Amino acid sequence: MRMRRKRNLEPRMEACRGLLLVRGRPCLNLKEAAENYRALLDFSAVFGNTNPVKMEVGCGNGGFLLELAAREPQTNFLAVEVCTNVILTAMERMRGRGLPNVRFLNIPAETLPCYIPSGSISEIFLNFSTPLPAKGCEKQRLTSPRFLAIYRDLLAEGGGIYQKTDSAEFFEYSLEQYEAFGFRISACTRDLHHSPYAEENIITEYEANFLSQGKPICMARAVK
Ligand SMILES: C[S@@+](CC[C@H](N)C(=O)[O-])C[C@H]1O[C@@H](n2cnc3c(N)ncnc32)[C@H](O)[C@@H]1O
Repeated sequence: MRMRRKRNLEPRMEACRGLLLVRGRPCLNLKEAAENYRALLDFSAVFGNTNPVKMEVGCGNGGFLLELAAREPQTNFLAVEVCTNVILTAMERMRGRGLPNVRFLNIPAETLPCYIPSGSISEIFLNFSTPLPAKGCEKQRLTSPRFLAIYRDLLAEGGGIYQKTDSAEFFEYSLEQYEAFGFRISACTRDLHHSPYAEENIITEYEANFLSQGKPICMARAVK
């Protein structure tokens, strides 16, 4: 079902302009954009410091980064989300909290190389990315080879991808891809909430929903 456009979307987006670094896609062909278009961000100018930068891809309503940014004031955060309706909620929540260390990119993850300098990201969070189990949809999975090639380039040495999902199939697929791309798995559980990692975990909006259905959550961290 298609989501209805939010009321007063444009004036509300405008009101969040200070938080929004980029909006839209540089051109219709995302592959061409990723290869050729460059408008790289200068994070020291954006945040006014040289603290490490972590990024969530597919931030949804932003609950995860809202909590993590408050826990880690010495880290900068980028929230990437393709859907304008959704990122607006995240930005309005963030504006209400007044945290200085979070900025938003309303772009498809395919175009991350257009804006993010190579080697500039210390951690990438993939929280409950859509599993897209159908065979023809593999390219759109956020852990498919084309995205892992992008993440590997954006991550600093020793940086990592932190993934959570309720889909066992998507999880096994992702682990295979990390290995194929030379990432080392430094943490892995197929039942996060009954593991030692549960204590530090921040429950996202989708995670809360899956937990209420009694579903186990898989988690892995893959290091470059
Ligand atoms: C299932 S939701 C999870 C939201 C949130 N991370 C959570 O755990 O509650 C996945 C989100 O990823 C976004 N998304 C999917 N593909 C994307 C892409 N290629 N680039 C950026 N965002 C994407 C969707 O719009 C959606 O908001």
